[in-house]
Formats: sequence, structure tokens, C-alpha cells
Amino acid sequence: MDQADDKPVTSLRQLAAAENECRRCPLYRDATQAVPGEGPSRATFMLVGEQPGDKEDIAGKPFVGPAGRVLDAALKDAGIDRAQTFVTNAVKHFKFEMRGKRRLHKRPNNYEIERCRIWLDHERELVQPRTVIALGVTAARSLTGKTLTIAKMRKVPTTMADGTTLVVTIHPSALLRIEDEADKRAAYQDFVADLKAAAKAGKR
Ligand code: URA
Repeated sequence: MDQADDKPVTSLRQLAAAENECRRCPLYRDATQAVPGEGPSRATFMLVGEQPGDKEDIAGKPFVGPAGRVLDAALKDAGIDRAQTFVTNAVKHFKFEMRGKRRLHKRPNNYEIERCRIWLDHERELVQPRTVIALGVTAARSLTGKTLTIAKMRKVPTTMADGTTLVVTIHPSALLRIEDEADKRAAYQDFVADLKAAAKAGKR
């Protein structure tokens, strides 16, 4: 049982509290806390990542670790003000496995994504973004219910059932894994171009 099942959630503050009480899947057991979305209560853009990482789990805020730094730089280069954007994740608790003393990120499975979607739906209802940007496959899966490759969904904005524009791009952590500097720069420029296109799509 969770709060959203029995009480109406009418503000982001209530939503954050409900997310912290969530027992809809087992991920709450090992995480420090739920990491709610962050940003204005009404925002034109909503950015949806996968799940909090190690740093986010501790801070209770989304995208404050290494992937967040890449995201911040790309948003700046795309001319998007993060402070005006609602930033959240498809899954609100950190999923990891221990490797020695380190907590290593584990990708959430479809069950966990489905169980957590109620919170993203609530965020979308409250914030009413004009454009939602899915960062990576987990966010795309949560928002569309389909498992599609990023290559298939990228570059072509779609319209969701409620009229919101959906833009799919890579997850910024993918850039952290590219070793070749030239490849990394090119992939970063592509990512920035996707964010710019999303900003344009949102203005229509
Ligand atoms: N990766 C995500 O998908 N979300 C975060 O908040 C941090 C890293």
C-alpha cells in the first residue's frame, strides 16, 4: 500500500512524502530515501532520467552526481535553464549491488519501472510540462510502455496521449562511458542537438 493509493496527492510536497512511503516494489529496502523530482511546480520542460545514482540517493536530489554534471553542461550549451526545468527519474529509489564497499548501479527491470510509473504520472499531472525529454531507455520505457531502442526513437518527437510532446535522447551517463575523446565529443554534440531540438519542439 502507498499513500497515492488511498489519498489524493495535490502538491509536489505531498508527492515527495508519498514516494518516500512507497512499498510498491522492493527497491525502497536498500535505498537511503526516495529521490523525488525537482523543479518548478509548473514547468515547460520535464527531463526524465533512469533512477537516482549513489550521490543522488544520499543527497535526495536528482542528477547531482557525475551524470548530472554532464547534463548541466549540455543543458547550458543547449540554452535550457535547469532551474526552469523539472528534473526527475522514472524510478525513484536507487537500485545497486555491492562490489566491495562500492554501490554499483543496476538497471531497474520492467516490473520496477511499471510499479514506479504512478509517481511519474503524478508528476506529469501536477507539473503539466509541454515537452517531456526521456533520457535513455528506462525513461522511454516508462513513458511509452514500450521497449524500443534509443536509435529508433531519437530525432522524431512524438505526441503522447495527453498531448505532451515526447523527445527521446541518450542518457548522459552513456557519455561518461565513451573512452575515445573524439567519439565522446561527437556524442556530446549530438546530445546537445537533441536538447536544442526539444526546446524548439516545446515552443511550437
Ligand atoms: N542517473 C539518473 O538517471 N538519474 C539521476 O538522478 C542520476 C543519475
